[in-house]
Amino acid sequence: MRIVSGIQPTGNLHLGNYLGAIRNWVRMQDDLAAQGGQSLYFLADLHAISMPHDPAELASNTLEMVAALVACGIDPDRSILFNQAQVPQHAELQWLLNGTARMGWLNRMTQFKDKSGKNREGASVALFTYPVLQAADVLLYQATHVPVGEDQKQHLELARDIAQKFNNDFASEEAPVFTLPDPIIPPEAARIMSLRDGTAKMSKSDPSEMSRINLVDDADTIMKKVKKAKTDPEPLPSEAKGLEGRAEAQNLVGIYAALSGESVDAVLARFGGQGFGVFKPALGELLVEKLAPINTRFVELLQDREALDAILARGAAQAREIGTPTLDATYKALGL
Ligand code: ADP
Ligand code: NA
Repeated sequence: MRIVSGIQPTGNLHLGNYLGAIRNWVRMQDDLAAQGGQSLYFLADLHAISMPHDPAELASNTLEMVAALVACGIDPDRSILFNQAQVPQHAELQWLLNGTARMGWLNRMTQFKDKSGKNREGASVALFTYPVLQAADVLLYQATHVPVGEDQKQHLELARDIAQKFNNDFASEEAPVFTLPDPIIPPEAARIMSLRDGTAKMSKSDPSEMSRINLVDDADTIMKKVKKAKTDPEPLPSEAKGLEGRAEAQNLVGIYAALSGESVDAVLARFGGQGFGVFKPALGELLVEKLAPINTRFVELLQDREALDAILARGAAQAREIGTPTLDATYKALGL
């Protein structure tokens, strides 16, 4: 089993990114390592240029993301961690697959419609063709499985269609060039809401610093943000269903449960009947306990540019080694 998964390099990482995305990668890595499988994780920096972007910011976000991933538990000894831009085989394979992908297939991609909005004529060509790059991202490594959320299902289908048509047109059933990857539904991720408004997602784009807990926040800042978090005057209920209609309370209890690994009911069995005067300090302490080691490692790594470069260089070398035979076979099958 070999899984391949990418994440866009974003900066200002927060608790939502950790519990909603990064932690799942760590779990998959650990599960796969236990089964003798292999995980390849990449920063989708080539994808990032499909939208308007600032080059200096992209470069620093890429490094920040590697630091965050490693600090959160992605282990470069057990996963292959790299960025696309250092593995030119991604872009090369994309071009070769452009010969197989059909205009009609790409025209049906709903993400292009969503992201280009009313300005289709002004959208970049990369935004239109990036599902083909996504196909190259996984086909290059003969991925057997790709974790996909709801919004990415269509793109994985496209990757399978491209692989199938290529195998059909240029290879034989006995000796296919590409493996058709199967989707795996990642373990259910927590959806973390803003500390200022339980109906808005915790996000880096929220102008209020108090709305989110950042991975760089120190213990005092975390305690202060939790103390100031919006709540209601009622005590906590003793069961999950008592949280209905209480978005802020539900969010805080949900964060506690996600961090402690307990169910919401188990958390409420302990805190039911208590007010936030008791619950908030407990939540703050748990956050500090779980995030402090991540924070320390993250800040350390961010200051060690050479270590980050070395992690990426090593991952890229490993990725190139796995990807090169497939790329060579693709050229050959095409008569190139
Ligand atoms: P932001 O919303 O802060 O801009 P991104 O869109 O860059 O975050 O998301 C990066 C990853 O983190 C995605 O996989 C996304 O699903 C996850 N993520 C972001 N915010 C949250 C959140 N509040 N709760 C759960 N997951 C989140
Ligand atoms: Na976003």
